[in-house]
Amino acid sequence: RSAPVLALDGPSGSGKGTIGQICASQFGWHYLDSGAIYRGLAWLAQDHNVSVDDVAGLVALADSMELTCHVQENDVAKIEINGQFVTAELRTEETGEIASQIAPLAPVRASLLAMQRRCRKAPGLVADGRDMGTVVFPDAEFKVFLTASAQIRAQRRFDQLKSKGFDVNLARLLESIQARDVRDSSRAESPLKPADNAYVLDTSDLSIDEVVASIMDYVNKR
Ligand code: C5P
Repeated sequence: RSAPVLALDGPSGSGKGTIGQICASQFGWHYLDSGAIYRGLAWLAQDHNVSVDDVAGLVALADSMELTCHVQENDVAKIEINGQFVTAELRTEETGEIASQIAPLAPVRASLLAMQRRCRKAPGLVADGRDMGTVVFPDAEFKVFLTASAQIRAQRRFDQLKSKGFDVNLARLLESIQARDVRDSSRAESPLKPADNAYVLDTSDLSIDEVVASIMDYVNKR
């Protein structure tokens, strides 16, 4: 029997990353940031001058991508791609934007599927993304879908980027989050949507502790 999975899906800025890492550390489970894989491929494509409509080129890059996630003591993951540390490069809005442009491509998603499934290891995995509960781990024991208003998600991204020293503009962030929502939810391939039996949680008015407590409650009741 394979290791248990907590699939944590939701739009950009819903808190998946923060919540996912806290849950993983409380359970003592592994953590998969699947967005980092799409961002990693986006970064590689930029680095190799492969354009977002060169599907064959993107698939070749995806197949050759070696991504390692080094989780550190303070729970902040450092990401290494083909031997280079690119943690900060992956977090930029530009990389997120390109990631969401290549994410609709079925051959690209297919090529990244095995890499994600290999992360399912004992004692368990918390997997965060858009299609963890629907496509990558449809048999996950626990499925949570986090939402929040676009306004609040933009504000959270703003605070997060600001605190890391990035120069950001709130109105532009909101626009980019809304555009990304439309693109991620309307694509034919693995669209962003709650799995049939997912626990849907609106985090707009909740603190991080309240969200974690609510997920713990859901997990313990199952
Ligand atoms: O979650 P994050 O903002 O890092 O993801 C960047 C982009 O990667 C998303 O906008 C989405 O288009 C894509 N993505 C995806 N499937 C996942 C994770 C991310 O399509 N499981």
